[in-house]
Amino acid sequence: MTILVTGATGNIGRKVVDQLLTRGATDVRALTTDPERAALPEGVEVARGWLRRPHTLPAALRGVDRMYLAPTPDTVDEVLAAARDAGVRHVVDLSGEPESWWGSVTRAVEASGIAWTHLWPGDFFENALTWAPQVRAARTVREPWPHAASAPIAMDDIAAVAATALLDEGSHVHRAHSLTGPETLRRTALVERIAAALGEPVGFVEVPRDEAVAVLEPVMGADAVWYVDAVLGGFAEHAREATPIVEELTGKPGTTFAAWAVENVDAFR
Ligand SMILES: NC(=O)c1ccc[n+]([C@@H]2O[C@H](COP(=O)([O-])OP(=O)(O)OC[C@H]3O[C@@H](n4cnc5c(N)ncnc54)[C@H](OP(=O)(O)O)[C@@H]3O)[C@@H](O)[C@H]2O)c1
Repeated sequence: MTILVTGATGNIGRKVVDQLLTRGATDVRALTTDPERAALPEGVEVARGWLRRPHTLPAALRGVDRMYLAPTPDTVDEVLAAARDAGVRHVVDLSGEPESWWGSVTRAVEASGIAWTHLWPGDFFENALTWAPQVRAARTVREPWPHAASAPIAMDDIAAVAATALLDEGSHVHRAHSLTGPETLRRTALVERIAAALGEPVGFVEVPRDEAVAVLEPVMGADAVWYVDAVLGGFAEHAREATPIVEELTGKPGTTFAAWAVENVDAFR
């Protein structure tokens, strides 16, 4: 009854490993290209491989019953074929609505014939870390749309839902969980919470779209254009409403952004 966690040193996969162990899972296998560097917790079996190199997967998938699937749209079909051949019965995937950027993962999983649970998060708390350099340097956040809003979620809460679905597959099979944090928050409200964690004012400075891209480029590279236009522009047009889904699925209330900001305040100092 082995559970394979792919992307197991990634932002979310690593947290899925921890959440499985917290819930008492004993047969956890973690996929990494570099077992030595991975520094995975004791008790976790480490397998060498990478989703973007599907030929590395058959050995890692041997004896696997369930898996957490990190998103690699370009190779997802081969990955799922290997999983099916290995006898995997349930895939919990990080993906998105069929029409979204990550929709190809959703469609491939549904076409695979393997039972599935989709995790569809929107904005992550951790995306606020892209503000860290400007908050550290000038105690400001420069963006075009102060009233743009989202219902961001902690990556740890996504991982908690993933672990719950992997361990209690019965009630999660063939369900798509649209995941949000517990509050809908404007960009200005996020900045206020970071300021409160710092105990110092942080200004929100409304700037034209091109300047926002230029500010983020050193942090995000070429993705800055996509992030400002598609992601922030999307929040400005349509705010996703917060729901209590994390508590409903895990029994524990979703982390608030204020609590996350306190825990991660050193990144902004
Ligand atoms: N709806 C949504 O918003 C949504 C939905 C789906 C996905 N996403 C995005 O998915 C991402 C998930 O990120 P994640 O960090 O959890 O996992 P990830 O980026 O999918 O996986 C990262 C892991 O892949 C492995 N890897 C091996 N070779 C690599 C290479 N050459 N380059 C990069 N990685 C390599 C690394 O592990 P080893 O080095 O240990 O092998 C690394 O820890 C997030 O950035 C999120 O934005 C968003």
